[in-house]
Amino acid sequence: MRIGIYGGTFNPIHRGHLTAAKAAMEQLRLDKLLLVPASVPPHKVLPEGSASPDQRLEMTVLATAELGRKAEVLDIELRRTGKSYTCDTMRELREMYPEDELWLLMGSDMFLSLHTWYHPEVILSLAGVGAFSRLEASEDEIFRRQKRFLEENYGARVETVRNDDVIEVSSTEIREALARGEGREYLPEAVYGYILRKGLYGARCDLKHLTPEELRPVALSYLKPKRMPHVLGTEQEAVKLAEKYGADVTDARIAALLHDCTKKLDLEQQLALCGEYGIPLDDLERRALKLLHSKTGAAVARDVFGVKDEIYEAILWHTTGKPDMTLLEKVIYLADYIEPTRDFDGVEELRRVVYEDLDRGLLMGLEETIRDMEERGNPIHRNTLEARDYYLNLLKREDKDMKTPKELALMAAKALNDKKAKDIQVLEITDLTTLADFFVIATGSSNTQINALVDNVEKELLQQAGEDPLHREGYRGGTWVLLDYGCIAVHVFNAENRQFYGLEHLWRDGKQVDLTEVLGEKE
Ligand SMILES: [Fe+2]
Ligand SMILES: [Fe+2]
Repeated sequence: MRIGIYGGTFNPIHRGHLTAAKAAMEQLRLDKLLLVPASVPPHKVLPEGSASPDQRLEMTVLATAELGRKAEVLDIELRRTGKSYTCDTMRELREMYPEDELWLLMGSDMFLSLHTWYHPEVILSLAGVGAFSRLEASEDEIFRRQKRFLEENYGARVETVRNDDVIEVSSTEIREALARGEGREYLPEAVYGYILRKGLYGARCDLKHLTPEELRPVALSYLKPKRMPHVLGTEQEAVKLAEKYGADVTDARIAALLHDCTKKLDLEQQLALCGEYGIPLDDLERRALKLLHSKTGAAVARDVFGVKDEIYEAILWHTTGKPDMTLLEKVIYLADYIEPTRDFDGVEELRRVVYEDLDRGLLMGLEETIRDMEERGNPIHRNTLEARDYYLNLLKREDKDMKTPKELALMAAKALNDKKAKDIQVLEITDLTTLADFFVIATGSSNTQINALVDNVEKELLQQAGEDPLHREGYRGGTWVLLDYGCIAVHVFNAENRQFYGLEHLWRDGKQVDLTEVLGEKE
């Protein structure tokens, strides 16, 4: 494996470091890049107002979000007490990676003074050197001379790393800019957010009144790098859902950005936060990390960012769901579920349903969660089960409510017309009898056609309304077939029997329903 080692005080780590790191990863074909924040560097004394070692470490970890999975941060220099020398670091790394090829990366100033470091022969025997070069021609000559010198005197391996996207800015300049309320463009987003949140280098912001744009970097600074794409995806999806279903887009953004803000904390830290915020927990919650982060996340969102109750609740319920959720709660629950980086089996279908009908999508998500937890043998929170039952019942009721008896009658009339029935009539008899609300009457030309007509009504009402007839009865050798749906009755006769029974006449006080819209104009 080819491993690059990039040390620095990283006070703070900035885009200049990142473009250099990317150039090295590419040109030296590195399989891994180790960022090593230095403790007290031999060459400099840290300025006042600097970040603490732990804070520099944390910012460096946040910055790896922009370098991909190959980048890692090592705290070996920060853990070391006393003066920290590169040769010690290289010895330690050689022990950690005995079989691998090590490449020590450095800027041109460092490279030109490398022979003056503490034990350069040790460093150069343990690792190759990847020296970043600037573009100026004048420097090329000095560079070449130093390269030759190191090769001849130390047997060094030196590779030049051309950094064409070099950003000419120093950490000192960035710290000064931050104190003036500037400098965002030089910093990885999450690092900038971290600096704001901790008030480092004189940077200030009012965390309680942030727009989503201002909040985004701060929210990212709470996350592990690998979770950042998920949270950004959730924000994006939440905006789409809020726009489609009429929720407040700003609230949706803020809730999405903060929904996982405590996700990286371990069980002990979560429980400590619960204690701090006085969050009551049930037995299951005390053991389930996944359930705790929505509670502590909501509390942090309210305490640190002053979010309003609606947003607090949306974060609180984003993991379990609950019965009778608000629109914003549904939007966040589902955005978290189907955001663009999700790729579980069935996510496409879930996305389709969510954008067709929010509650149906919600039910599908809840059911999927329950199935998944059952498969893994995990306990399921009662809120999730209650939410599932609630939406299952709600949608069942809605399905029934959606079709009034009149709509069913018209649906039956259309099904008859589609199979070429004659003289279709719909009579409203609601006020005349408790037998039914509507009679649908039609004529078929033969027993075969009568059966085909009735079959089609059965099929359509089942498909479109989920309705099955209570009875289907045939009289007089199949020349009169009745489908009884309770609220509507469908009669199909041959012409002779229709005349004979004269239902229209018997029920002449019923109201004829106008069928032009369903059947079209008569020719
Ligand atoms: Fe979450
Ligand atoms: Fe999430």
